[in-house]
Amino acid sequence: MESMGNLRRTDYCGELSAADIGRQVVVAGSVAKSRDLGGVIFTDLRDTTGILQLSFDDATDRNVFEKASGLHSEYVLIAKGVLRRRESVNKAIPTGEIELAVEELRVLSEAETTPFEIRDDVKVKDELRLKYRYLDLRRPVMHQPIVLRSRICQIIRNYFCDHHFCEIETPTLIKSTPEGARDYLVPSRVQPGRFYALPQSPQLYKQILMLSGFDRYFQIARCYRDEDLRADRQPEFTQVDEEMSFVTADDVMTLNEGLMQKVWKEMLGVDIPTPFRRMRWDDAMDTYGSDKPDTRFGLEIQNVTGLFANTEFVPFKNAIAAGGTIRAINAKGLAGQLTRKTIDKLSDVAKTYGAKGLAYTRITEESVASSFEKNLTEEEKNALHTALNAEVGDVLLLVSDAKRVTACTALGQVRLEVGRRCGLIDPDRFDFLWVVDFPLFEYSEEEGRFKAMHNPFTMPTQDSLDKIETDPAACYADAYDIVLNGVELGGGSLRVNDPALQNRMLKALGFTEEKARESFGFLMDAYRYGAPPHGGMAYGLDRMVMLLLKRDSIRDVIAFPKVQNASELMSGCPETVEEKQLRELSIALDVPAQEMAEKGE
Ligand code: AMO
Repeated sequence: MESMGNLRRTDYCGELSAADIGRQVVVAGSVAKSRDLGGVIFTDLRDTTGILQLSFDDATDRNVFEKASGLHSEYVLIAKGVLRRRESVNKAIPTGEIELAVEELRVLSEAETTPFEIRDDVKVKDELRLKYRYLDLRRPVMHQPIVLRSRICQIIRNYFCDHHFCEIETPTLIKSTPEGARDYLVPSRVQPGRFYALPQSPQLYKQILMLSGFDRYFQIARCYRDEDLRADRQPEFTQVDEEMSFVTADDVMTLNEGLMQKVWKEMLGVDIPTPFRRMRWDDAMDTYGSDKPDTRFGLEIQNVTGLFANTEFVPFKNAIAAGGTIRAINAKGLAGQLTRKTIDKLSDVAKTYGAKGLAYTRITEESVASSFEKNLTEEEKNALHTALNAEVGDVLLLVSDAKRVTACTALGQVRLEVGRRCGLIDPDRFDFLWVVDFPLFEYSEEEGRFKAMHNPFTMPTQDSLDKIETDPAACYADAYDIVLNGVELGGGSLRVNDPALQNRMLKALGFTEEKARESFGFLMDAYRYGAPPHGGMAYGLDRMVMLLLKRDSIRDVIAFPKVQNASELMSGCPETVEEKQLRELSIALDVPAQEMAEKGE
């Protein structure tokens, strides 16, 4: 191993081009690969910006040539030389026209053979890649998203700072408050038996900041939720969090459309048209069976309940008798792709989302094959076909259920599956959408009470103010979600700034005065001393980066993500701790020994 001596980097590999030919430069990085062709050696040097070919030949100093012949993958180098035009251009890389004729070379670190090759198209198990995350992050395909993520953050910061926002950090050891997901807890040593929670979001603090007169706040904030992982969910994730005083929901949405426009323009050169489409929550559910609809394709859901008012077909009859509904999709012209076998798979999707089944009619030149039409009268059948504009080549898909949300959700998922399977989704489109007018409350069967759909501080719409006590199910919130290509990118609302209204909301949510004070007393008090009207929202930054870079999982855009069981495989956490640490925290474990052993495997 050598030191850098007096060599200091002058340039980054990926930033050099034919315009630099003739210049003397010093570059530093790792060996991506080295080919010894006898009299010439070509070494690809990789740094955070890209790759540059180093070239050694009979004109190279013999000592330097000797050193180059001993280079292996992942050796760390610094090299000085003159840039020249290559003999054979490599169109696959941006610096493919040039190479560095090396005059001075220092090997700063040697490398053992890595557990997998550091190249984009390597096939290796996720677990191994995550264990050696530092090696995986050297692969350009994994490296670039992290670099681009940093650039996105910079654009976001600039935008907020240009619009009078103040960046403020809020605490991460906070009080556990009810509602929302499960908290991660942190025990206090100095106050035995007491716990902090890690924030699920900076929500209460950002509201308090508005009461502190900061007017506009933002933060790129880490959030923690102890919930099951999915492709777009991690236990610790990052929000772009914001709050503004003296605004309406329209103001928040307009300002954020500008932000999205700027991020997409600066990152991808794409012009996103504004204003974004707005859709009421009810319409999103009815038409797409989702509160985060993918609007890049049609296949809209229709309500056909009215056609079956007098039906004798038992599933439909029962659904209607229970105050339910019958919803349908016409998969137009897709009979060729939606075979019987595929329809069976769609039926499984519907069942996964709570439907009892999926009724279908497949119309081809040869036949009309239906799972249910034999039970309909001729009039019902004709009415259905007319309503859905059924023609040869179409497949009709229906779900009936006692609950509107179940029927719509199940069919909405079937719609997505059909869209994916039949190639109806244009991967190059960015369809932004606001979903507005959310229900204020949702009924929890489990708890037998109404819960806040967003949080207990969400402002009801004007029309809902007199129904909070009398008809909670009919109340709507001044809340908005921003949806991109079927993913919930972010969401927010206007907040209640009137203590009397806040009390009514908490009462409707089943809080006793005592419980409300215990949980939110500090916040309720704060609103007594003059509170500007305010509202805001938060984006999932990981999701934003994922969608912008067209990746499938937020894991690809987080430097050190967690896996399904919430472990981080590189460092190996969570992990047991020493008895002494537990004693200091006054904590006694109640985990069966076998379980401890299994978890530790
Ligand atoms: P909400 O709970 O909707 O709102 O969260 C805002 C956004 O954060 C992202 N998100 C997640 N991303 C990755 N992993 C997770 N586990 C995860 N959970 C949420 C989503 C989501 O839209 N305080 C409010 C915002 C407000 O009202 O201002 C809040 O946290 O993209």
